[in-house]
Amino acid sequence: TRTFSIIKPDATRRNLTGAVTKMLEEAGLRVVASKRIQMTREQAEGFYAVHKERPFFGELVDFMISGPVVVQVLEGEDAVKRNRDVMGATNPADADEGTIRKTYAESIEANSVHGSDSDENAKIEIEFFFNEDEIVGCSSRRTMTGLVAAMRRGLVVSRLRRSGRSAIDARDAPRCSIVRIRARSRPVRRGAVRSPARHRCG
Ligand code: RTP
Ligand code: MG
Repeated sequence: TRTFSIIKPDATRRNLTGAVTKMLEEAGLRVVASKRIQMTREQAEGFYAVHKERPFFGELVDFMISGPVVVQVLEGEDAVKRNRDVMGATNPADADEGTIRKTYAESIEANSVHGSDSDENAKIEIEFFFNEDEIVGCSSRRTMTGLVAAMRRGLVVSRLRRSGRSAIDARDAPRCSIVRIRARSRPVRRGAVRSPARHRCG
């Protein structure tokens, strides 16, 4: 399953993106999407809308836009719980040894990471920040298979030609369905297909 994570401004400021990510990976989670962004006030207010009535809402929004954050989609068995476990309690003073917040958090507010609290919220939060084609999980091989099938039908040739690339890869796949047939007469060379998605996950 998937969950959504944010490496918060206190952690990016201290150059801990890699250190936090390492702890997530060591907990059995895989980063299947990641980007560093500066959240706007509107984004932060929208994201934390559930906390609108809480007394710390204003400060929380100010904090979340005080510097860059890294938003991530994490994949793994029981991802929501697995992530919450490695994050530790909201207040680092209450967090268990070996958790991210115990190790790195500065305070109950500047607590280094966010993690979705349910599968339902994970889906909502992932969709808040990512398009489906920005998430590349272990199922990418299926995508690649679909891509090759589409190529055999001549569906992706025009896209390839427009983009000026000489080979296609899995990035093209999510868009295949909207590419029109144009070049049946000029099939892509067989050898032109890179297969980066054929790695094994595990
Ligand atoms: P998160 O949503 O960030 O994963 O954290 P959480 O579930 O452990 O905590 P939650 O109750 O959802 O609160 C969201 C974030 O608000 C800040 N906070 N400040 N000043 C305070 O008393 C206070 N309480 C919470 C924290 O940054 C918390 O992660
Ligand atoms: Mg929460």
